[in-house]
Amino acid sequence: MDEKEWELFLAPYHQAVEELKVKLKGMRSLYDYEIDHSPIEFVTGRVKPVASIKEKARRKSIPLHNIETMQDIAGLRIMCQFVEDIRIVIKMLLARKDMEIVDKRDYIAEQKESGYRSYHLVAEYPLQTPRGEKKVLVEIQIRTLAMNFWATIEHSLNYKYSGNIPEKVKHRLQRASDAASRLDDEMSEIREEIKEAHAVFFRKKEHGPKGDKR
Ligand code: GTP
Ligand code: MG
Repeated sequence: MDEKEWELFLAPYHQAVEELKVKLKGMRSLYDYEIDHSPIEFVTGRVKPVASIKEKARRKSIPLHNIETMQDIAGLRIMCQFVEDIRIVIKMLLARKDMEIVDKRDYIAEQKESGYRSYHLVAEYPLQTPRGEKKVLVEIQIRTLAMNFWATIEHSLNYKYSGNIPEKVKHRLQRASDAASRLDDEMSEIREEIKEAHAVFFRKKEHGPKGDKR
């Protein structure tokens, strides 16, 4: 495929990511009118760069004519404050009528050897195109802020070391992952107090929505 063909192929993925960002961020905003704190802290999305698609296709022996079977060409990321929020977000996504969850990977129950923790869902998202409906696969990663902090640092180290992180650093990262996991547990335990503090804070600011955090 040349540059123009890639652009054509990726257009529906860009559209799917944009639509889902609006929908999921919208869910976040609607929580401003609820008593409960939002299980969604913030949402990001991206389309995998062509070079990464090609690299992964080689690595996983995916032929180019089957490239749409790659599950993470379109990617959304939902960050949560608390581990408990992840379950709420999963339930919310499973209940949606505008997508179908076709796969899930729980790297929280079973973290990766690297120390990576996150919950991954793969959804089939029906996109309305000039040629009718087209189902696009989207990977949705759901993680706490602590998990995201860890994954972001680990990802940039992987980039820096071209995937060959020195053993010593790898070991430190595994320990950091344990620490992040403990932080999540601690935060869960004091969750009620945090929620109460939020309520007091926003009561002080009187009425109306809590304001746009993002
Ligand atoms: P990839 O080839 O990495 O996409 O793996 P996969 O298709 O077998 O799926 P997997 O569920 O293992 O990982 C999908 C995505 O999760 C990756 O593209 C990353 O965004 C994230 N991920 C998985 N493992 C790690 C990890 O060890 N560190 C970081 N930072 N991210 C990871
Ligand atoms: Mg991936």
